[in-house]
Amino acid sequence: MSFTLQPLPPARLNRCQLFGPGSNPVLFEKMAKSAADVINIDLEDSVAPSDKDKARALTIEAINDVDWGTKHLSVRINGLDTPHWYRDVVDLLEKAGDRIDQIMIPKAGNAADIYAVDALVTSVEAAKGRTKPIGFEAIIETAAGLAHVEEIAAASPRMQALSLGAADYAASMGMQTTGIGGTQSNYYMLENGEGDDRAVHWSDPWHAVTVAIVAACRTHGLLPVDGPFGDFGDQEGFRAQARRCATLGMVGKWAIHPSQISLANEVFSPSEAQMTEAREILAAMAEATASGLGAVVYKGRLVDIASIKQAEVIVNQANLING
Ligand code: COA
Ligand code: MG
Repeated sequence: MSFTLQPLPPARLNRCQLFGPGSNPVLFEKMAKSAADVINIDLEDSVAPSDKDKARALTIEAINDVDWGTKHLSVRINGLDTPHWYRDVVDLLEKAGDRIDQIMIPKAGNAADIYAVDALVTSVEAAKGRTKPIGFEAIIETAAGLAHVEEIAAASPRMQALSLGAADYAASMGMQTTGIGGTQSNYYMLENGEGDDRAVHWSDPWHAVTVAIVAACRTHGLLPVDGPFGDFGDQEGFRAQARRCATLGMVGKWAIHPSQISLANEVFSPSEAQMTEAREILAAMAEATASGLGAVVYKGRLVDIASIKQAEVIVNQANLING
């Protein structure tokens, strides 16, 4: 480890973030009763410009009136380039009670964006005597967001998580796709050789930004989260996208339809097989350490002191799930 230790992220589950438009109150009770760990009521892009005021009022009413149980309750405000965001922040913090946990800041482009929201939030909190500080999650979904991802992660002690927003990210980067996450039909490698029957290898166009988000989050003690998968009829596509992100270190994924909640919970909860293997590796390493060894063979492969940390990631996640 560097002399600078890696801080731990917030100790809470974030396997699935369920979104619903603030303008659609029919969904609020359903969202509260769902199996998602985090609820994101949206004031931004799923709300039509003409509905912004209504959605804000409905959202405040829902924060105050719906029984959200133990859910981490988050509201996505409008972008800092709009005339809506300051009113979102002021009304939420003046009119919604303490049940709100987090504000989600879309299209964050640099640390100053986070600083601006922090200044406004801090002022309203002080004026209203709010005792529970609001946390922040930012969405990395622009070229600037990727270029400045680390300063965004470090911008405020309120920062708890970063999500990847695939659709806006693709648009901002000028990517030739209209897909929201997942495999993209023009992004592939062909087997070497000639002819029409060469094997296709589907590469992951979201890989670079995913790794950048994970690195920024792990450096600054935040939770890295994968954003939406638009084709909610394609469950295997969702699973594949989520599994790649889990493999790269993300802790959860958004759901934009209830059918995606159990898929996210499944992928971001360690399986029995993963748990068994992690426990066996820890036992093998305990035995090795007791006999003065730093490395041993487990099922024909090397395990060493780094393997303890890898196994602990899985065990810690399972402990969080089991309370
Ligand atoms: N949260 C909770 N419940 C939801 C839901 C959500 N986000 N979306 C749909 N449901 C409910 C519906 O009300 C319906 O309930 P019912 O069986 O009691 O009638 C059921 O799930 C099935 O819904 P379905 O008919 O398949 O979907 P729909 O046509 O009503 O809505 C969407 C589809 C995509 C418009 C809707 O899911 C939605 O608004 N998703 C969130 C979009 C969003 O927030 N985007 C911003 C982030 S990218
Ligand atoms: Mg977006």
